Amino acid sequence: MVAQMATLKDEVVNVLAKISGPDGTPLPASGKLSEIVAADGKVFFSITVDASAVKQWESVRAKAEVAVRAVPGVTSAMVALTAERAGGAGAAPPRPQQRPAPERGQPRGHAAPSPAGIPGVESIIAVASGKGGVGKSTTAVNLALGLRDLGLKVGLLDADIYGPSIPKLLAIREKPQTVGGTRLKPIERHGMAVMSIGFLIEEETPMIWRGPMVMSALTQMLREVEWGTLDVLVVDMPPGTGDAQLTMAQQVPLKGAVIVSTPQDLALIDARRGIAMFRRVNVPVLGIVENMSTFICPHCGTRSDIFGHGGARAEAERLGVPFLGEVPLDIIIREKSDAGLPVVATAPDSAHAQTYRDIAARVRDGLAGASRPAPKIVIEA
Ligand SMILES: Nc1ncnc2c1ncn2[C@@H]1O[C@H](COP(=O)(O)OP(=O)(O)OP(=O)(O)O)[C@@H](O)[C@H]1O
Ligand SMILES: [Mg+2]
Repeated sequence: MVAQMATLKDEVVNVLAKISGPDGTPLPASGKLSEIVAADGKVFFSITVDASAVKQWESVRAKAEVAVRAVPGVTSAMVALTAERAGGAGAAPPRPQQRPAPERGQPRGHAAPSPAGIPGVESIIAVASGKGGVGKSTTAVNLALGLRDLGLKVGLLDADIYGPSIPKLLAIREKPQTVGGTRLKPIERHGMAVMSIGFLIEEETPMIWRGPMVMSALTQMLREVEWGTLDVLVVDMPPGTGDAQLTMAQQVPLKGAVIVSTPQDLALIDARRGIAMFRRVNVPVLGIVENMSTFICPHCGTRSDIFGHGGARAEAERLGVPFLGEVPLDIIIREKSDAGLPVVATAPDSAHAQTYRDIAARVRDGLAGASRPAPKIVIEA
């Protein structure tokens, strides 16, 4: 297996040697290639170039992708072009390129129809949290399924490229196929179109992503995937509110964000940061979900508030954002999630599934509101 992978990688390097950058240097000698990840016929790497040279390099990237795809044994190839930002890592995140700043007189927070939207995709929403491990991915999956149950056509994108968990949460082991040799077909699961970087890399493959690479991979997963016609694309974001997340929030044409928090103060502080981040980039916050709210003992049914209870509702009120609902801390949710059997899909009659559907209905209603200019919203001077 290992030998086979090495061979495939060698063959990829061989074909890349026949492709030169704008200055005539063959790609492998250019010093611009990332590590080439080649496993199970899937190949992924990036070319990092100076931001000013991106235009000249785009055709090289495309050529490399086509050439790699033609290598026998390669079933899909993703070559990302990543731009080094002048000013170093500490520089401020780039200005939103795909989300024009609100024009004078345009309501702040109103997501104007953006030319950079994904054709066929009506709304893209992010499921985010400041803090890790609060149940974002679990919420994203069940919220997506809840939206599906409301009759919407739903897609799910795992943007947590540091720790993709959607393949596990939906027990997806197959690899996406390419369409027409250039675009990836999402995996269909429970009636949803699903895409994750985890489909393209091995679970155990350590991926070291540099900032620009992250963006490029995300852009490709958004724009080079055959999403088809979707009412909603739910994006499971990586945890945190740092530059990487801010840039993502700027680059993805988001209609709104759902913030997941556990009830305790520390998580709420992070949730607050998350809300501030989305507000900064003019993405409406559709509301907060309190996850791991009340604990229900599986043996005696007694309720106890391990992380406290109601903190997220109070915080939502304080911040003036909708409260979307509370999901109890229940071992069934954990077991089902970890077994790739999300509760909304596999126990649709359970109280938990109903809770997620109620949350989904509020999100849907919030989206309808986010698409209309809200009269209350402050007009920028
Ligand atoms: N309501 C819940 N009740 C019980 N377990 C839960 C609940 N929500 C999530 N979990 C469990 O908590 C763990 C973390 O959840 P999840 O992976 O969804 O969090 P996350 O915020 O996406 O984490 P990360 O920051 O690593 O991406 C998982 O094992 C999941 O099954
Ligand atoms: Mg997650």
